[in-house]
Amino acid sequence: MAYERDTLVRWDRDHLWHPFTQMAGFCQEELLIITRGEGVYLYDSEGRRYLDGVSSLWANLHGHRRPELDRALIAQLEQVAHSTLLGLAHPPAILLARRLAEIAPAGLTRVFFSDNGSTAVEAALKLAFQYWRNKGQPQRQRFLKLSGAYHGDTLGAVAVGGIPLFHETYRPLLFETLEAPATYCYRCLHLKDCQTQCLTRLEELVAAHHQELAAVILEPLMQGAAGMIPQPPGYLTKVREATRRHGVLLIADEVAVGFGRTGKMFACEHEQVSPDLLCLAKGLTGGYLPLAATLATDEIYQGFLGEYQEFKTFFHGHTYSGNPLAAAVALASLDIFQKERLLEELPGKIELLSTRLAEMAAHPHIGDIRQRGLMVGIELVQDKNTREPFPPARRTGHRVILAARQLGAILRPLGDTIVLMPPLCISLEELDTLAAITLEAIRRGTAAA
Ligand SMILES: Cc1ncc(COP(=O)(O)O)c(C=O)c1O
Repeated sequence: MAYERDTLVRWDRDHLWHPFTQMAGFCQEELLIITRGEGVYLYDSEGRRYLDGVSSLWANLHGHRRPELDRALIAQLEQVAHSTLLGLAHPPAILLARRLAEIAPAGLTRVFFSDNGSTAVEAALKLAFQYWRNKGQPQRQRFLKLSGAYHGDTLGAVAVGGIPLFHETYRPLLFETLEAPATYCYRCLHLKDCQTQCLTRLEELVAAHHQELAAVILEPLMQGAAGMIPQPPGYLTKVREATRRHGVLLIADEVAVGFGRTGKMFACEHEQVSPDLLCLAKGLTGGYLPLAATLATDEIYQGFLGEYQEFKTFFHGHTYSGNPLAAAVALASLDIFQKERLLEELPGKIELLSTRLAEMAAHPHIGDIRQRGLMVGIELVQDKNTREPFPPARRTGHRVILAARQLGAILRPLGDTIVLMPPLCISLEELDTLAAITLEAIRRGTAAA
C-alpha cells in the first residue's frame, strides 16, 4: 500500500532515528524519500532522479534492480529464505565459501560468514585473539591500528577505530590499542622531508611490541571513512613484511575497498599481499543484502581444531550469518564480474575520472583530491594556501551534498571531504555527469565562503 508523502514525512519525524544523523537539524530539512532504483539511479517519492554517487553507502556494484541479481534472489526465495549455519549448511553458503576462497588472495581458504562489515571485523579480531590463546601464547592480546581508522560501530571495531569524533565518547568501554600514523600526506608535518616516517613508526611499534601483539589491522591501499586517505605504493608490502618478520597477524579490512573499488577485485592484489585475515561485506552482495565474510588462512583455522573439551571452538556467530538469500545474490554478483569481465572495463572509467578530477583541482576551495580506482575524496578547505579547514559549524560538506541533490546526484561527505564512489557499472557518460554535478555543487556549497 502506498502512502502519501506527507504521511511518511510525519511518521519519519515521529519514529525513525536515522544513523549518524543529528536528528535536531535533520528534522528541519526537506526529507528525501527514495522509493525506487534503476541502474545507477535512485528515484524519490516525487519521481525525481538522482545519480547514486556513493553506491548507497559504498555497497552497490552493478546498479539497482539488476535483473541477474533480482532473479537469483527470487530463485532462492522459492527454496528457503533463511536457515542457520550453526550446525547446518545450505548450498548458497557452501558455494559462496568455495568461490571466495578461489578468488581471494592466496592462502585464505577458510570462510566465516556474518552479516555486516562491523561483524566481519569483530570476527577477525576475536579470531586473532583466540588463535594466540589456542596456540599457547595468550600474551599476544593487543592490536595495532592506524590513526583515523574506521572499521565499524560495534565496540571491538570501535576500539580499533581512530576517529575521535566517532570513537572518543566510548573510550572507557574499549580495549587499549597501539596506534601508528595514517598516511595522510596532505596534512603531514613531514610533507617536505618525507622519508615515510609514518611507515617507520609502524615498523618500530611492531618491532617493540611484537610479543604482545595479536595483529595489525588496516584497510589496504585506501583508508575510506578516515577521509579517503591513500597509502603510498609499497606501503602495504612493507607492513606485511614487518608483521611476517615478527610473527604478528595482519588483518586486511576490505569492507570498503574490496570488490573492484580500487580497480582490482581486492585491494591487496595491487601489491600481491596475502593477509592472515580478510574482512569483506558491502559489495559482497553487489550492494543488495547484508552479508559479510571473514576469510582466514588454513593455519589459523587449524589453530581452532581439537577435542570439544579443549574449548578451542570459535564460540561466535549470528542468527543471519551467511543468510541463503544474501549468499545466492553474492554468487550472482560474482557471476557478473566473470561474465562481463567487469574488472577489465574499469581502467577506462578510472582514467576518465582522474581526468575530470584533475580539471577540478584549480578550484579555490579544493585543497586535495585523493583517488584510488573509483574511490575518491575531495578535501575542501577555506584557504588553499594555508590548508586551513572551514569552520565545522559551517557544514560545508553538507552544503555541497544538498547542492548536489538539487543538481541530481546523491553524495555523502566525510566532514568537508566530498566522497565519490559510484557503482562499478557506471558508464563513461554517467561518470562525466557525476563529475560535472560534483564540481558545480562544490562551487555552490563553498560560495561566499
Ligand atoms: C572499512 C570498513 N570496515 C567496516 C565497516 C563497517 O561496515 P558496516 O557498516 O556494514 O557495519 C565499514 C563501513 O563503512 C568500513 O568502511
